[in-house]
Amino acid sequence: MLVTAGPTYEPIDAVRGITNLSSGRMGYAVARAALEAGAQVTLVTGRTGLEPPNGAAVVHVVTAEEMLDAVLRQIDRCDIFIGVAAVADYRVANPQEDGALPTLELARTPDILEAVARRTNAPFCVGFAAETHDLARYAQEKRRKKKIPLLAANPVQTSLGTEDNELLLFDDDGMHRLERSRKLDQARGLIRHIAKLYKPSRATVTVR
Ligand code: CTP
Repeated sequence: MLVTAGPTYEPIDAVRGITNLSSGRMGYAVARAALEAGAQVTLVTGRTGLEPPNGAAVVHVVTAEEMLDAVLRQIDRCDIFIGVAAVADYRVANPQEDGALPTLELARTPDILEAVARRTNAPFCVGFAAETHDLARYAQEKRRKKKIPLLAANPVQTSLGTEDNELLLFDDDGMHRLERSRKLDQARGLIRHIAKLYKPSRATVTVR
């Protein structure tokens, strides 16, 4: 299982950058819950102050581009991809070097989840979405647009940087609510839901 977590950081100059309030706690909780369930887990993580769960292979990245590279290097060895990272939607196209008052030009970052989901032989893909309003409508639209079987959505006001969380899971059957609780319990609920939906299609058989 491959899990992305935390914020990405896009430099403006040597000391400033564009990032967001993601603490990484939800992504790290998902990695931990997957390990508890017996999965082999690689965690591709942006900058957080968190200790990775024991047993996960960890790849540290800073920018969205680095996160995409790290994910693509691992993707053929993974059966399930869970994009929990809060990836910056924009990077600075003209990073500053001379300390001049900058006029920032922004360029879109790659959509990592979409890039993974559209591959032939794509793993089972799970996305996360933080919505400010009309959560159910936007979440289902996002799931269809990204062509992913499962999307976990939470209200942005009560999830970013918090200890606990309230997740709504959207799949082909509609919406499933995980009651508000600690992020680790939410993550365990998510892993249980994935286990119900996931049909191994790339499982390899070892013949002794
Ligand atoms: N994602 C990604 N690469 C990006 C942007 C997002 O992999 N460049 C992934 C995130 O990890 C998450 C999902 O896509 O799983 C979030 O989708 P997004 O369209 O960014 O939705 P929101 O984060 O809810 O933000 P917004 O609606 O403002 O775009």
